[in-house]
Amino acid sequence: MKPLKNDSYLRALSRQPTDYTPVWMMRQAGRYLPEYKATRAQAGDFMSLCKNAELACEVTLQPLRRFPLDAAILFSDILTIPDAMGLGLYFETGEGPKFERPIASMADVQKIGIPDPEGELGYVMNAVRTIRRELQGEVPLIGFSGSPWTLATYMVEGGSSKAFTKIKKMMYADPQALHLLLDKLADSVTSYLNAQVAAGAQSLMIFDTWGGVLTPRDYNDFSLQYMAKIVDGLTRENEGRRVPVTLFTKNGGQWLEAIAATGCDAVGLDWTINIADAKRRIGDKVALQGNMDPSMLYAPIPRIEQEVATILEGFGEGPGHVFNLGHGIHLDVDPEHAGAFIESVHRLSRPYHAK
Ligand code: CP3
Repeated sequence: MKPLKNDSYLRALSRQPTDYTPVWMMRQAGRYLPEYKATRAQAGDFMSLCKNAELACEVTLQPLRRFPLDAAILFSDILTIPDAMGLGLYFETGEGPKFERPIASMADVQKIGIPDPEGELGYVMNAVRTIRRELQGEVPLIGFSGSPWTLATYMVEGGSSKAFTKIKKMMYADPQALHLLLDKLADSVTSYLNAQVAAGAQSLMIFDTWGGVLTPRDYNDFSLQYMAKIVDGLTRENEGRRVPVTLFTKNGGQWLEAIAATGCDAVGLDWTINIADAKRRIGDKVALQGNMDPSMLYAPIPRIEQEVATILEGFGEGPGHVFNLGHGIHLDVDPEHAGAFIESVHRLSRPYHAK
């Protein structure tokens, strides 16, 4: 395997010095890029694209050909695990993900097994191996999974949701069923992420997109507890280097201390929290990733640069910051604005790393 040429992303996650603040974008491969749309059309549909290692590799690399990003992220989806559990994932145009057989009861939960990462999910590992080979050590590859809570919301709701009534009904009326589901998901996520590391992922991220819809107590019991269990079970070193783990709970700003206490290396921030406050609260324990509002990329380029400057100033001097959007890039963003964003992070961050 070729040695890593640009390790600034891995160094920042371990709070080691870098020459500038590394940057990548959540959902950096996707529909805002015309070349992505062309490859997806070639694959047929989204899941066929995920299941074809060569094409998944192609779309992973597309944003890196356009922009000097400091990390690549595996092209896949968080819903691969529930699909492998037999729920029948499909995508209806314009409506997001759906399941043919959602989870409705304890009996449904009991039937679910832990997928074999090199079996039903072998296509993901093949994509990781292909991407690692094709990256040729340019930048590190991020592997990822959804959090048990976030995966469970899709599995019980049967798709995307706004009010989360079905899963909250299960949480309050049949908590044992939900805990059994979350426990099976935590075991599945742990073996899935460890297999991604074995296949070549150099860093891991857990997306808890929906943890922020819970009460503080329920966040701990139904989401954070299971992420902490996963963090405990992960391979943290491979190929002689630390494999850093980032936890991202959207709308989780009020729980930063608890998230940092799981033993993760970094905490992802959305845009509803000031990064200076986050640094004051947990910056001596973990690195921070974030936290520009993705909608800022709709602004004229000078306004984007101003926002980048404000966030860099908020974090201040020293290592431990990976710049990112606070959530995925929107599908109608002008790629030129994304490019200006990335360039300005690199340029404007150098003075903060001068010492
Ligand atoms: O970041 C990347 O570039 C890697 C790829 C990636 C995708 N999904 C590709 C994708 C990652 C990391 C994800 C994670 C994911 N998927 C999350 C967690 C992060 C977040 O955004 O909150 C969630 C909640 C999902 C579930 C999911 N997958 C939804 C809700 C949708 C539909 C969204 C939409 O915009 O239509 C997907 C499909 C999906 N996953 C697409 C992409 C590029 C769009 C599919 C398409 O090409 O039509």
